[in-house]
Order: sequence, then structure tokens, then C-alpha cells
Amino acid sequence: MAQILESITTRRARRAISDQPIGRDVLATLLTAAHLAPSCANNQPWRFVVVDEDPTLAQVKEHLSGGNYWAKISPTIIAVASKADLDCQIPDGRNYHLFGCGLASMNLMLQATEMGLISHPIAGFKQSPIKEILNIPGDYMLITLIILGHPASDHASLSEKHQADEVASRERKPISEVMFWNHFDVAASGNDGPPT
Ligand SMILES: Cc1cc2nc3c(=O)[nH]c(=O)nc-3n(C[C@H](O)[C@H](O)[C@H](O)COP(=O)(O)O)c2cc1C
Repeated sequence: MAQILESITTRRARRAISDQPIGRDVLATLLTAAHLAPSCANNQPWRFVVVDEDPTLAQVKEHLSGGNYWAKISPTIIAVASKADLDCQIPDGRNYHLFGCGLASMNLMLQATEMGLISHPIAGFKQSPIKEILNIPGDYMLITLIILGHPASDHASLSEKHQADEVASRERKPISEVMFWNHFDVAASGNDGPPT
């Protein structure tokens, strides 16, 4: 049995995708993977909207940010939405719905990787119009869009920077900066300010 680390390593937020349709049977498998994610008190706070038909798909694509031009060719986009009262809200300030959606999304993306698909989550989109197009109620947050696609045969449709990103090695902070043994290491963790 393949080690899960192989799939985790293989998954990359790649952008060179094709317009080849993704079958509903494949999409159902991805949704099953997401559906099996753990959640606080088994609340399952995620709501997924699979968008694979025009005009809805084309309408959603109109509201992607400019830098996400590469996603316009995608045959399927999955919207992930939630709200705090769908999940545990601990009085000391811990709200778990975003965490649950992250777990479910990662399950889906790893299953997509296993099936040879690219799955790329994005935050670069206009939330309000897409919520309206997809009929997502106003009190929900549209957390991410997961862009799905088969890998393209070449990178020609991408900007020069994105072509370089496709083949660049993965970048991560040193493990010693973000993971600790026994005690949080404030000095090692560096600047606690917002990410650049
Ligand atoms: C919440 C979230 C939002 C993201 N938004 C975008 C985006 O709008 N456009 C984009 O090209 N990539 C986006 N990404 C992809 C990240 O840039 C990518 O995951 C990161 O650089 C690490 O690369 P890797 O996934 O290949 O390991 C996003 C990823 C996450 C998890």
C-alpha cells in the first residue's frame, strides 16, 4: 500500500490544467473523500458546491482575480462554504468550522492527486457575486474555490512566472521554525506578525 506521504508530496498547487471534462463518477469519489473527514462533534460544517456546467461555471469564472486567469480553463470548480454556527464554538474564542472545512478540502485534494488530477485551492476571487451565483446564503463564508483539472500537456498558456512556478521546487519554512518539541519556541518561530 502506498504511503500517504507519497500523495502529500505529489500534490502541488499547479496551474497548467486542461479543459478535459472530469466525470461525475470521479467527482463523486472526491466528494466521498471529503465527506469522510473528521469534525468537531461530527458536525460536518462543510458545504461543497460542485460547479461543472455552464452558464454557472462561466459566471463564477468572471469573478476570479486577475492572477487566477489560469483557472478559467477549468472544467470543474468546487466552492467550499461554511459558517461558525455549523460547528463547535468554544466560549474561549475557538471556532472550528474553518478547521473542519480545511480537513475536508485536504481529503478531497489528496484523493484528486491519487486520481491524477490537479486540485488547487484559491482565495483570489470576489466572494459576494459568486455566493449569489451559487445561491449560497448571505451568512455563509465562501472560504475557497478548489480549481480542478487534468494536467495540461504543456505550460504554454501560463505567464512566465507561473511557468517557472510549475517546475520550481517546493518552498517551506524550516521545520525548526514552525514545529516544536514539548514547548512553543517563541524565538524560533520568528515574527508573530501577519504573513507577508
Ligand atoms: C487558502 C489558500 C488560498 C490560495 N489562494 C491562491 C490563489 O488565489 N491563487 C493561486 O494561484 N494559488 C493560491 N493558493 C495556492 C498556494 O499559493 C500554494 O498552496 C502554496 O504556494 C504552496 O504550494 P504547494 O501547494 O504547491 O505546496 C492558495 C492556497 C490556499 C491553501
